[in-house]
Amino acid sequence: MRILGIETSCDETAAAIIEDGRKILANVLSSSSKIHEKTGGVIPEVAAREQIKYMIPVLDEALYQVTKNLELRTENKLDIIDAIAVTIGPGLIGSLLVGVETAKTMALVLNKPIIPVNHILAHIYANWLYTPGRSPSGHLPGAPSFPAIALVVSGGHTELFYMEDEKSLKWLGGTLDDAAGEAFDKTARLMGLGGYPGGPAIAAEAAKFKVQSSKFKVKLPRPMIHSNDLNFSFSGLKTAVMREVNKLKEMHELTNAKMQELAYEIQEAITDVLVKKTIDAANKYKVKSILLGGGVAANNRLTEKFQSQITNYPASPAGRQLPIILHVPLPKLCTDNAAVIASYAYFHNQPIPWQDIQAQPNLEVEV
Ligand code: KG4
Ligand code: ZN
Repeated sequence: MRILGIETSCDETAAAIIEDGRKILANVLSSSSKIHEKTGGVIPEVAAREQIKYMIPVLDEALYQVTKNLELRTENKLDIIDAIAVTIGPGLIGSLLVGVETAKTMALVLNKPIIPVNHILAHIYANWLYTPGRSPSGHLPGAPSFPAIALVVSGGHTELFYMEDEKSLKWLGGTLDDAAGEAFDKTARLMGLGGYPGGPAIAAEAAKFKVQSSKFKVKLPRPMIHSNDLNFSFSGLKTAVMREVNKLKEMHELTNAKMQELAYEIQEAITDVLVKKTIDAANKYKVKSILLGGGVAANNRLTEKFQSQITNYPASPAGRQLPIILHVPLPKLCTDNAAVIASYAYFHNQPIPWQDIQAQPNLEVEV
């Protein structure tokens, strides 16, 4: 089954064509993030205007890629699409409407089923995707084993799910205030690192920090790390960083080296909490896999920590080490894209009449 996915929830305009939920036949994305760098955040109307400009060229490019990959005659390119999947939320209303109205029009004109998708849940399905020809053995890359814990860490969401199989998603907990990505974005802005999004800027600054050589000992809180539940809170971190920055400014000590150390500690604080809570959930539910998704999953320090903690995972009562496999999508599949939308739609194939599809900016994730 081949599904065309469309994603326009925030500052990206994306289209992808995925076969059987896994094989990438086309994957195209145009982002307006460069424009938002100047304003330090997304201005909704600016984002939507860009999406209106790019939606059709992006679709056209995705159809061109599929024509090439499947060696089709150009006039047959639309025939190979079995269904259309579109992000209906959560996201910015103006942005969502661009994708939703485009998808509805295509469903009507082509007479194809249309599947509404929650893009936060869809992030998890990046772990099933692969590009043909990439596997050195020529075999299909392995799919995750179950049960599994999935952690979605994006700009607006930090959510943990339990998955009994590839279709079931049980929400376990999430952030009570700011999301992990938001903590990266807000602290980057507070530090004057500029740009948008802030996660890669903090990661780049942190990478310059030499742990051994520093005398400056900034220590930030790890909010709720011992809270004994699977919820998160990151807004206190932002306040603590603001205090540190103001203190350093007053003392005229906000040097490059201190900026690097602060960025390092921000990344440590956020990743410590994410790893601890996810491993707690993995322990509780005795899972075989941990699946990461969302923009923050592109953070190398996060995956490095997960990998080392999983290696030290406590042995089972029988004394055997439980093999937990960590799945981390390629960075371009962690951040927003349309491939995950089509993949999710394959595993949760619930078409509804196009008349009933509606953009839902505040769509919830508790399932
Ligand atoms: O999933 P995503 O692309 O969009 C949303 O659905 O929000 O996630 C965007 C978030 C931003 O907060 C961004 O700062 C963060 O992902 N991000 C990162 C990295 N790359 C993107 N955070 C930390 N390290 C990164 N390398
Ligand atoms: Zn996202």
